[in-house]
Amino acid sequence: MNFLLEKASARPKALSHPELVTLLTSTDAQALFSAAYAVKAREVGRVVSFRGLVECGNVCEKNCYYCGIRKGNDKVHRYRMSAEEILREAKWSYEAGYGSLVLQSGELTGEAHTAFIEDILRRIHAFAGEAFGITLSLGEQTEETYRRWREAGAHRYLLRIETSNPELYARLHPADHSWERRRECLKALRRCGYQVGSGVMAGLPGQTMDDLAADIEFFAAEDLDMIGMGPYIPHADTPLGRDVKGTPEDAAQRLELGLRMIAVTRLYLHDVNIAAATALQALDPEGREKGLLAGANVVMPNVTDVAYRADYQLYAGKPCLNENSTLCRGCLERRIAAIGETINWKRRGDSPHWGKR
Ligand code: 5AD
Ligand code: SF4
Ligand code: FES
Repeated sequence: MNFLLEKASARPKALSHPELVTLLTSTDAQALFSAAYAVKAREVGRVVSFRGLVECGNVCEKNCYYCGIRKGNDKVHRYRMSAEEILREAKWSYEAGYGSLVLQSGELTGEAHTAFIEDILRRIHAFAGEAFGITLSLGEQTEETYRRWREAGAHRYLLRIETSNPELYARLHPADHSWERRRECLKALRRCGYQVGSGVMAGLPGQTMDDLAADIEFFAAEDLDMIGMGPYIPHADTPLGRDVKGTPEDAAQRLELGLRMIAVTRLYLHDVNIAAATALQALDPEGREKGLLAGANVVMPNVTDVAYRADYQLYAGKPCLNENSTLCRGCLERRIAAIGETINWKRRGDSPHWGKR
């Protein structure tokens, strides 16, 4: 184990597939987290970058079996923020010193939506300029749409592959959701000049340690700049989460698997940005700090108006439903100071991996 950790720390992509599995399943999780933390400290610093997360709307054309806002869930009260509401959250994030913003919503396609986002991007760019990062997380789109949004001022795009195993993907989605198409979208995003982020859920039913090791190899093969991944958390109003009982032991296991994925990804890729996903905090009040201590370097504080937060629940136990953006900012500042890290105020926080391109 120590030999593997040393080898992985010395240079990126040093581990074989079986060695990745060995680390993912190693008995000494603390040694794994410490080694990943040392690589993070060396490669990206003990500095956390913030991205203000705007949950722009929960209307979705898709029906992923695991997700709480899937089209088929008729218990959800649907909303779509107006351009003015989104701009207000963007301005708040900018003024709060968050170096960048993430616009996320359920998947919508079509000219009206493309033009709506395009207009918002231009207006954010007009007041914030190049120094403020704009990330989109708006699902699968045509290359033309990706290009228009890029030209309107978006720099980064997050599109999780969810799992690198196409067969597992097929079991988690209806037949008209295509793994191949999603991978094509990642390639299109690269062609359009985005910093590209992807990721997976860890702990999906039927997912093996081999799958998770292959996920990390997929990140390397796609040459990603950013990784956003988190534990899968069952949602009671979904086909996949309907009959799952979430015990405390279950939550602890999911959390640990999510942390192990962060650590092994850091040990394999070294210089990418890795987010400590909010889903970690859904399982443990200190989940995000634990993510940072296992090798993550990005946090996405929620800046959505409290009126909408409860309607945007992809998984059970989403935190901060009643805390407003100012409270979350203070809370995160304290939590990050408590683990001895500093916040990258007013900086875009691009990954060194992107810088070396
Ligand atoms: N548990 C954890 N993550 C989920 N997502 C959707 N549903 C769940 C769930 N039940 C994640 C997916 C998606 C991202 C926006 O949220 O990975 O890409
Ligand atoms: Fe829609 Fe994304 Fe949820 Fe799938 S995971 S149902 S695309 S919001
Ligand atoms: Fe929202 Fe702690 S991050 S209250």
